[in-house]
Amino acid sequence: MAKEIKTIGVLTSGGDAPGMNAAIRAVTRKAISSGMKVMGIKKGYQGLLNEEIHEMSPRDVSDTIQRGGTVLRTARCEDFKTEEGQARGAEVCKKYGIQGLVVIGGDGSYRGAQKLAAHGINTIGVPGTIDLDIACTEYTIGFDTAVNTAMQAIDKVRDTSSSHERCSIIEVMGRNAGYIALWCGVANGAEDILLPEKYEYNEQEIINNIIANRKKGKTHHIIINAEGIGHSTSMARRIEAATGMETRATILGYMQRGGSPTCKDRFYASMMGAYAADLLKEGKTNRVVGYRHGQFVDFDIDEALSMQKDISEYQYQVSKALSI
Ligand code: ADP
Ligand code: F6P
Repeated sequence: MAKEIKTIGVLTSGGDAPGMNAAIRAVTRKAISSGMKVMGIKKGYQGLLNEEIHEMSPRDVSDTIQRGGTVLRTARCEDFKTEEGQARGAEVCKKYGIQGLVVIGGDGSYRGAQKLAAHGINTIGVPGTIDLDIACTEYTIGFDTAVNTAMQAIDKVRDTSSSHERCSIIEVMGRNAGYIALWCGVANGAEDILLPEKYEYNEQEIINNIIANRKKGKTHHIIINAEGIGHSTSMARRIEAATGMETRATILGYMQRGGSPTCKDRFYASMMGAYAADLLKEGKTNRVVGYRHGQFVDFDIDEALSMQKDISEYQYQVSKALSI
């Protein structure tokens, strides 16, 4: 028989993502509606170890759904990667009566949740990352806002690139994943999209493409470069030297992680947060919430972490075909 969960905790961990507040709100309100008590843990696993824990009421999450960032704050915590850190985390949970924990974050945060589950704390992961790099789910909280923010910024760079007939290399976030770069590359009509999953480190191809496009009458050249490839500034210098076309690098940076979440992020975060609270209520542990084929689903964390995800070859080929 699954144990009855009376008190749960919620924390956000790793890089923040727009929509995390909607997820915290949903966990809190759905759990309270189901008769559970909710403890908010500040600053991820670091805050757990430091006992930065307080009870949450439905009013504590009022006026947060439209806000970027995370009201619980977030952190990266090296100590939690150690066995001592994990054992202490479980002890702190027990001290505060926290029997179940919702961890909103990426793959790294799930590994922490997996370790806590092994110590007897029921844990559920909710995918919160702008990178879209969690294999078990087609959707991660924050991606939609981040790509829209980046797309709007890139449109602006494009205006000035056209006026000056320049080449622009625009670097977007995503750690080792190219989803933000691919989506923006297509949505912004980029001439070249450099993805860590596909790039062959052949700058000559880009240079040839720029020269060919100039001959075809294109007045600017937009290159979306993924953070996982990086080196946009030095790339710009080399491309300018080889093509004679003025080339500028723009690194969009942290603006992509902030801002008011889109409707899509608020909606998915609300559903996923509520789903996580329901799983805890049912006594489930070591699970992650995902979205697949139009449904909210859950997987065992071990299984989720062993899954692989890659950029669709078809989508990549389409992006190339549309950039002629
Ligand atoms: P994300 O969750 O966005 O992938 P990180 O990889 O930085 O971000 O992980 C966030 C935090 O999760 C880390 O700072 C650490 O506290 C915890 N974590 C990551 N990997 C592990 C691990 N192998 N074991 C325990 N905790 C981990
Ligand atoms: O995972 C989200 C993300 O913004 C990545 O795109 C980026 O590589 C990383 O976090 C940056 O992390 P930090 O906030 O530690 O600089």
